[in-house]
Amino acid sequence: MTETQLKELLADMSLQEKTEQLVQLNCDFFGGENVLTGPAAAFRLTEKQPYRTGSVLGEHGAEHLKELQDAMMKEQPHRIPALFMADVIHGYKTAFPVPIAQGCSFDPALCEETASAAAAEAAAAGIHLTFSPMADLSRDSRWGRCMESFGEDPYLNAALTSAVVKGFQGDDCGKKGKVASCFKHFAGYGAVLSGRDYNVTELCERTFYEDYLTAYKAAVDAGAEMAMTAFNTIDRIPCTVSQKLLKGVLRERMGFEGVIITDYNAIGETINHGVSENSREAALKAITAGCDIDMMSDCYIGNLTSLVQDGEVPEKLIDEAVMRVLRLKNKLGLFENPYKDGSAEAEKELLYCEKHQKLSREAAVKCSVLLKNNGILPLKGKRIAVAGALADSRDITGSWAIFTDSEKTVTLNQALTELYPDVSFSFFPSDTLTDEELTCCREADAVILALGEDQERTGESRSVTDISLPDVQKKLFERVSEVNGNTVTVLFCGRPLCIPELAEKAAAILCAWLPGSFGCYGVADILFGKENPSGRLSMSFPYCTGQLPISYSAFNTGRPKPPVDKFVPYVSNYMDAPNVPLYPFGRGLSYSEFEYSPVTLDSNTLSKGGKITASVTVTNKSSRDGEETVQLYIRDIKGSVVRPMRELKGFKKVNIPAGQSVDVSFEVTEESLMFYDINMERTAEKGRFTLWIGPDSTAVNGADFELV
Ligand code: NOJ
Repeated sequence: MTETQLKELLADMSLQEKTEQLVQLNCDFFGGENVLTGPAAAFRLTEKQPYRTGSVLGEHGAEHLKELQDAMMKEQPHRIPALFMADVIHGYKTAFPVPIAQGCSFDPALCEETASAAAAEAAAAGIHLTFSPMADLSRDSRWGRCMESFGEDPYLNAALTSAVVKGFQGDDCGKKGKVASCFKHFAGYGAVLSGRDYNVTELCERTFYEDYLTAYKAAVDAGAEMAMTAFNTIDRIPCTVSQKLLKGVLRERMGFEGVIITDYNAIGETINHGVSENSREAALKAITAGCDIDMMSDCYIGNLTSLVQDGEVPEKLIDEAVMRVLRLKNKLGLFENPYKDGSAEAEKELLYCEKHQKLSREAAVKCSVLLKNNGILPLKGKRIAVAGALADSRDITGSWAIFTDSEKTVTLNQALTELYPDVSFSFFPSDTLTDEELTCCREADAVILALGEDQERTGESRSVTDISLPDVQKKLFERVSEVNGNTVTVLFCGRPLCIPELAEKAAAILCAWLPGSFGCYGVADILFGKENPSGRLSMSFPYCTGQLPISYSAFNTGRPKPPVDKFVPYVSNYMDAPNVPLYPFGRGLSYSEFEYSPVTLDSNTLSKGGKITASVTVTNKSSRDGEETVQLYIRDIKGSVVRPMRELKGFKKVNIPAGQSVDVSFEVTEESLMFYDINMERTAEKGRFTLWIGPDSTAVNGADFELV
């Protein structure tokens, strides 16, 4: 349809019909036996009203959605097709590694590819839009949802967020196999206080703008069609009713023109937050702030029409919101084909297709992070014991892999058995071992211990106050590592855990995260050396929970700690833990060994508008080809406001054949040095800077330059 036709359609719609376009309900409202007495009654809906709403949450499956679409369009006065939205976060049927793991790939192309595969499957299943990517920056692993984030760094987060939007939407979300992308949760949800989900945030404006908003902006720039508001408050205002945030920041500053949807019942929850008296006031505040679609509260459906009739909300506001919804439907081509790509044949062809299985396996290789290796890996022995309940668990796909068929998920035990038939494995899929089993571990050439947390322990609402391993696992590790020095730990988790005991005594630690449907094949391949690990931490692993929140990008303070390994009174440090994490952002080992030359700069002065080039030569000193993630960090030595001790400003992944060298260079421009100055203007201030190029955020290979 043309814009004029859309406007004509809008002009012909009744107020009631318009408000219904701004409502999203979930599957509870469609077809179930108790709809009328249950959810519909709670929302005070008439029998057919759910079918007249504009979009549906969480329904899927080509045949089912065709039927639902027909049923809905039949009830729609203008036969407007419904939009089917769902949480396709890291895969629809084929699950890829969870986002925190994909962050560790430092590989935008990979993230684009997994999103594109997920889009193809979801589109075949009749889904039109996905609530992904989650662009929330996260520095606190008490928060279970850091699993859905690309981690602690704004630069990396922005690069991967943008890649995922492109993967889902392509250059046109209406095209075959593409879905519209909704980035979330606007804004600052990753900074919930104390890591407790749904809590408030207390962020200073500068940190919010500089660190937390960056990735959302990247999603906007990448063309994401929708934004979801966050449950939390910013500046003591729930995001969902914050005019400053939605109108001021998202629409005006960031230039976002797409649809804004709330998170689940977020409008209704403003009553609990204590800023709305009732659902009517909540609806008034949300529509005024700029929320177009109300996800799963009764606020819009129950109040919008009368708010307009009573003159409290100008109809123009409703019209603008509805126009955005209609435009999106039009972009997706729904007026021509309301089912879009939903097709049972396409489902057969695409869901769990070989290509996606292979990608799931490859992605796990790129996302797994080797944190420690005393040389035991790759495994050479022929008698291997495998212990730990997680080695036999299918709950390792990730809690948002809600559409996958769990029985298809390949466990670690399964992958090892299938891929390495020549190795004699003894499997003890439990966190407690009998003495006999322990003896078997003693006699093995090496033991693989699967530790960590399954998908039930991480994700939405799974906040914890202690990120240590459970006692039973600590004990298991202690017993096994005591009898066998070749104990390799495979860590399954959705958040950085606290693992000092493993760091001290394990022969190797491979963080596999929650690797997805076929990820364990990739993990097995790393263990046995068919693949060379290349993942880098997207989030630091602290020594202990008490260090949280933590990031490499910290501040010097007025009393910085001197470079000693012990407590120093009256400087900024802890009596019982270091300031720095156990495994810092960017860290990850390889079976290859890389050496960096000193950094060279083509000039020590950068003029405004100009650029300088910083270069290193990286040599693969080993006999094994490998991939290195070369990282650029910059420090602004003095600013009008306090500046972080370093910030990631570039990264490049390079394949370096055994024994060879590769030159890697980065361009540094004024843009790389910009920040919010004392007047909250985004600018680069003249003065001295240090940059480092190296394998992680502790790189010491540096050079100084000046912005003139
Ligand atoms: C609540 C979650 O916060 C959000 O991420 C998700 O997309 C919606 N529910 C819809 O399921």
